[in-house]
Amino acid sequence: AAGPGMVIAIDGPSGSGKSSTSKGVAAARGFEYLDTGAMYRAMTWWMMHHRVDVDDAEAVAAAASRPVITMGTDPSAPTVQVDGTDVAQAIRTQEVTSSVSAVSAVPAVRERLVAMQRDTIARARRESGGIVVEGRDITTVVAPDAAVKIYLTASAEARAARRSKEVRTDDVEATKRALALRDRLDSSREDSPLTQTEDALELETSGLGLQEVIDIVVGLADEAADGA
Ligand code: DC
Repeated sequence: AAGPGMVIAIDGPSGSGKSSTSKGVAAARGFEYLDTGAMYRAMTWWMMHHRVDVDDAEAVAAAASRPVITMGTDPSAPTVQVDGTDVAQAIRTQEVTSSVSAVSAVPAVRERLVAMQRDTIARARRESGGIVVEGRDITTVVAPDAAVKIYLTASAEARAARRSKEVRTDDVEATKRALALRDRLDSSREDSPLTQTEDALELETSGLGLQEVIDIVVGLADEAADGA
């Protein structure tokens, strides 16, 4: 379809089911998919790979323009490359996960990645049926004019249970503590914190299966398309 494609923005804390939901919705509607968390992770991976101290905000800011980050937006096979290297696995390690909140709190990092995200969204609107974008500041900062805006939540227990399964650990309590820490950092930073706003629809997914959540969001997208 020749644009203007639809933008679906999905924010929420870690473990709320954003990625599975976003990919499922994009696949169901033939839309593109952008995982902005993967971009912050790629930036973090590059900093660690180049021995930049991630807790030194000035050093991180000074290097923020250097990594070349390339995202593939096919929901059935999303890709992420840094300087031409596939980092899809490398950005999911514990080391990256525990440093990503510090790197993503640096304004120069956000400025650069938000600009890239807006470029991708603008291109998708022109060239395809639409794009599903997931993150922490998509409904508030990156695409506040999206046709569908959702804040995905789930109980701390449900999120820890899901994440534990993903990373194959039995220590659900430790997972719960790690998620709580990251959420606190992501919600309390000064620049574009994770915030739930009135104009995003809250979707509480604790008692719902993935397909049910996907169906709800696809329904909202269809409603928005009819109303447009
Ligand atoms: O969605 P995720 O867990 O892969 O995201 C990793 C981190 O990136 C998250 O802890 C905070 C940061 N992030 C952000 O600051 N803004 C976004 N739009 C997406 C992620």
